Amino acid sequence: MSLGDALYLHPPEARNAGQTQEKGLIKDMADLTGKVAIVVGASSGMGEATARTYVAAGAKVVLAARGADKLAALAEELGENALACATDARDAEAARALVEQTMAVFGRVDILAYVTGTNIPDRALRVLTEETWEMMLGTNLTGAFHCTKAALPVMREQSAGLIIYVSSGCVQKPDASGVSYQATKHGMVGLAHGTFQEEKENGVRTCVIFPGLTDTPLVLKRPVPTPPEVVAQALMPQDVADACLFVAALPARAYVPELVLLPAGLS
Ligand SMILES: NC(=O)c1ccc[n+]([C@@H]2O[C@H](COP(=O)([O-])OP(=O)(O)OC[C@H]3O[C@@H](n4cnc5c(N)ncnc54)[C@H](OP(=O)(O)O)[C@@H]3O)[C@@H](O)[C@H]2O)c1
Repeated sequence: MSLGDALYLHPPEARNAGQTQEKGLIKDMADLTGKVAIVVGASSGMGEATARTYVAAGAKVVLAARGADKLAALAEELGENALACATDARDAEAARALVEQTMAVFGRVDILAYVTGTNIPDRALRVLTEETWEMMLGTNLTGAFHCTKAALPVMREQSAGLIIYVSSGCVQKPDASGVSYQATKHGMVGLAHGTFQEEKENGVRTCVIFPGLTDTPLVLKRPVPTPPEVVAQALMPQDVADACLFVAALPARAYVPELVLLPAGLS
């Protein structure tokens, strides 16, 4: 045994399992065969890319968002491993129905990815209304709470589960995304870390992903159009989907509390 080996509790053959040249580390990491995922926000942008990526990696995926037609079209394209379930995450009952339908069709919930989020053109504090504040909180934060609460009993029963929350790089670097957006994106961090502290003994892990500017329809909601030369340097939805895949494919012993993913050219 080498000095390096002596530092580890696991024997070399166990540590290296699945990491041999022949099998390929990436191929093994990306294998979600046998896993069931719920992707909330699957009708557009990063959520759609994540759903596609999870199905390609072998998972069965429930596609959730409000847009029933888009979800149905995506489910048809992805085939029998995808199920459309129109859901308004702001509605606690709808979130419970989403998990119930997932259980009825696929029988478990290994991964919940909350990739839902929105922003408003009138985002400055001086023009923000109580209605828009409530809508922002409901969509970006309370929806994540509802989905978390709905999925947790199943994950506890399984003694396993991963919840991924897509927050925003505005948490690390405050920007002009507006107080309601930033408040919700900070709130997701508390939801994620608090959930892990309470549920880790039940095998539940959480991860917050903080993407920087990403070329999705959400960017069109900015009050001032983003210059094309800036958008050209943004992340692609697939980059965030790959981060969601990386976290989901790690074994249950691995905990990634936070993952910051920024466009290199804009950082
Ligand atoms: N794009 C960026 O530059 C950027 C940067 C950092 C973080 N983010 C975050 O990344 C996440 C994904 O955003 P994106 O850029 O991919 O935006 P997007 O393309 O606009 O997708 C947003 C998704 O959220 C869904 N959604 C909105 N309201 C919902 C509700 N009440 N219930 C269920 N689903 C709802 C939308 O579907 P329906 O409309 O059909 O419901 C859609 O599928 C968001 O949390 C966003 O804040 C984005």
